[in-house]
Amino acid sequence: MSLKKAYEQYFKIGTSVSRFDLKSDKAREELKKHYSSMTAENDMKPMFFVDKEASQADPEKYNLQPVMTYDTARPYLEFAKANGIALRGHTLAWHNQTPIWFFKESFQDDFEAPWASKETMIARLEWYIKNVLNFVQTEYPGVIYAWDVVNEAVEEQDELGWRQRSPWYKTVGPEFVMHAFRFARKYAAPEVKLFYNDYNTFNPFKRDFILENIVKPLMAEKLIDGIGMQTHLVIKEFDHDLEQYAVALEKYGATGLEVQSTELDIHCADPSEEGMQKLAEAYKKLFELYVNAKKTGKANVTCVTFWGMKDDVSWLTGFRRERSYPLLFGDNWEEKEAYRAVVKVAEEA
Ligand code: GLA
Repeated sequence: MSLKKAYEQYFKIGTSVSRFDLKSDKAREELKKHYSSMTAENDMKPMFFVDKEASQADPEKYNLQPVMTYDTARPYLEFAKANGIALRGHTLAWHNQTPIWFFKESFQDDFEAPWASKETMIARLEWYIKNVLNFVQTEYPGVIYAWDVVNEAVEEQDELGWRQRSPWYKTVGPEFVMHAFRFARKYAAPEVKLFYNDYNTFNPFKRDFILENIVKPLMAEKLIDGIGMQTHLVIKEFDHDLEQYAVALEKYGATGLEVQSTELDIHCADPSEEGMQKLAEAYKKLFELYVNAKKTGKANVTCVTFWGMKDDVSWLTGFRRERSYPLLFGDNWEEKEAYRAVVKVAEEA
């Protein structure tokens, strides 16, 4: 049973895709079978779109207009276009995977070098967003349906609010978020949906901070269309987190904006039958939540994207420093109990 077919009447089913996936016949086949949305795992992030050598060659000339290059994005755009899979753009303004030289005077590749001025960084932000959107919309019109305009602008647990260590925050201040969305709205094709995306969006402090300081001002200027809940979960904390997740989903849903689960995985280090049964239970509860929210109108869930197609390619093994089995498909593409549980939720809904 194809995941995208099972959920067709509710929302898109997506996955992150790597450059290795695109080169694998089997992965391409699975992509076409199960997914109606895809996100480049890395290759459309700023570190791949800004050209260090070319920009540094004449820092004065390129100061406000860094040199851009899009070769890493083409295979994703081509594949999505050829196979009618909607592509999520990920991501425009983020503190991570954006090189430090991009934020520095004269593009110096040095943590100690002075930051570029606020005006300079606002100009570079506009230039960056304008060029990325123009590129995809000119060469691949209609392929990208949504952008994560800003990723992870808020701190997690420590109640700092804004992520103050972000070079965007350091150079522009918290208003970098508004600027990014204004530029995105200005240059995006009218049908393209603009998202704010973050992790642990169910954390009550973070949730309320995002709603108050990001979503509300953006909505006031009609600059945002959706909220991305990354949804990197952990099996050991699942039941606790799910309660908060349900509350958050409803609160985000109550804004009337779209809500997407953008990077779903559930870290689980126990591959035994029992461990995988627990994982299946967790996925069942989560998908019941999405479907119910959609059916009752509590949240307009428009896509649920898995962060990886099969266990052995998951980033979690590296991140958690223990082998993870977090997804619906096993190392050899075998359908896991979790896969069957997710399909069943749709069948019984
Ligand atoms: C964050 C980012 C993703 C990815 C994951 C880890 O959630 O949004 O692009 O880098 O971390 O793989």
